[in-house]
Amino acid sequence: MSNLWPIGTRASPGIRRSAYSAGRQNDIVLLKHIHNSASTPILSTRLHAGKKIVLQRDSIAHDDILGKRLRDLVSSRKRINYRITEPTLAEYTDLSPRIVTPIYSQDANLIVSLLDLNPTVPDPKRTTQNSLEIFEAGTGHGALTLNLARAIHGANTATPPIPDEDITAEATPDVVERMKDTYQEWRKNRRAVIHTLDCSGRHSAHAETVVKNFRHGLYYPHIDFHVGSIDEYLTSRLEATDGTPFLDHAILDLPDIHHYFDIVGRALMANGTLITFCPSITQINAGMTFVRQGAVPLFLEKVIEVGGIVGVGGREWDVRPVKPRALLKARTEDIKPSEEPEDALAEDLEDLRQSPDSDDSGWEMVCRPKVGLRIVGGGFVGVWRKMTKRST
Ligand SMILES: C[S@@+](CC[C@H](N)C(=O)[O-])C[C@H]1O[C@@H](n2cnc3c(N)ncnc32)[C@H](O)[C@@H]1O
Repeated sequence: MSNLWPIGTRASPGIRRSAYSAGRQNDIVLLKHIHNSASTPILSTRLHAGKKIVLQRDSIAHDDILGKRLRDLVSSRKRINYRITEPTLAEYTDLSPRIVTPIYSQDANLIVSLLDLNPTVPDPKRTTQNSLEIFEAGTGHGALTLNLARAIHGANTATPPIPDEDITAEATPDVVERMKDTYQEWRKNRRAVIHTLDCSGRHSAHAETVVKNFRHGLYYPHIDFHVGSIDEYLTSRLEATDGTPFLDHAILDLPDIHHYFDIVGRALMANGTLITFCPSITQINAGMTFVRQGAVPLFLEKVIEVGGIVGVGGREWDVRPVKPRALLKARTEDIKPSEEPEDALAEDLEDLRQSPDSDDSGWEMVCRPKVGLRIVGGGFVGVWRKMTKRST
């Protein structure tokens, strides 16, 4: 845990800064080697007088950065020059010290865009306003959590100062109490919340630090961190709503995604999206099989391969249950020749997604890149939709 940053003094989240300011106490800066653009930039810890960034056989004193502006240069002890920049969210999540593998920035972007979040800004003239709830498990590094929080940021009103020990250290007990009350009241009235859950308290605590340290906690107040079991958390929430679904969207980035389809399916509102992130296509297949066998009202809308050689934006996969033709012919009489699939792989298979046949035996999976090329590596994003009834 030695690579965790301490949480120190923070300004109020959302504080507006000059485009050129940097080098304030507790800022995190990104240092770029000015002669070697191929070298990985250095993400600082929070800046504190007297501290230094330790490099391999070199170091940079925080005091040499404090008080400087963005794009100024700073020299290391060995006189190597670095340009001071402010890390973007992507740079921050990809480069921050980790204890668990995060979703990389371009994949997190894709996942957030697949949710198609369009939250409205608060309207002071309306007394009742819809709220948006997104559930994520596992929290991991907090990388996707930060991206999700940024996407809903505009739905909430301006955040009051987070009353943690650094900001309250010099305040009187009365002032601290008032700050806490104001913050809690604000939290109760949030119009959009990310609920992020991890079974590991250590991962969750690390992620909380990662989130809190980005831009002085800018997105932190939009997130509720939970530690425990998915089933227990969602079941208790459903009990509180008398079984009424309450989640707009859900995301699962953990092993055995299908183990949670039932409870997540019950908590999701109709037409809500469930996004799954798996290292292998087999896990999407397991999810698909589970959905077909059980009474889970989820429909697999698309599968996109990300990472590896696929590049930004991902590659769409064709994943669907089919029955081998021989088996099918033996059982059904009424498939017209015009309905036969055209391409090579599908020659021996019939897509029975729409079939009224409820017998689950003999099903196999079509599972290939839509462009028809063989590829290796990368992860798979599944986009599932909550149906109102199990019809299509
Ligand atoms: C790959 S990491 C998630 C990374 C994260 N999406 C990010 O962007 O930083 C997977 C996380 O899932 C958690 N996890 C594994 N199984 C879980 C379960 N059954 N319930 C909750 N969390 C689980 C692990 O502790 C780990 O932190």
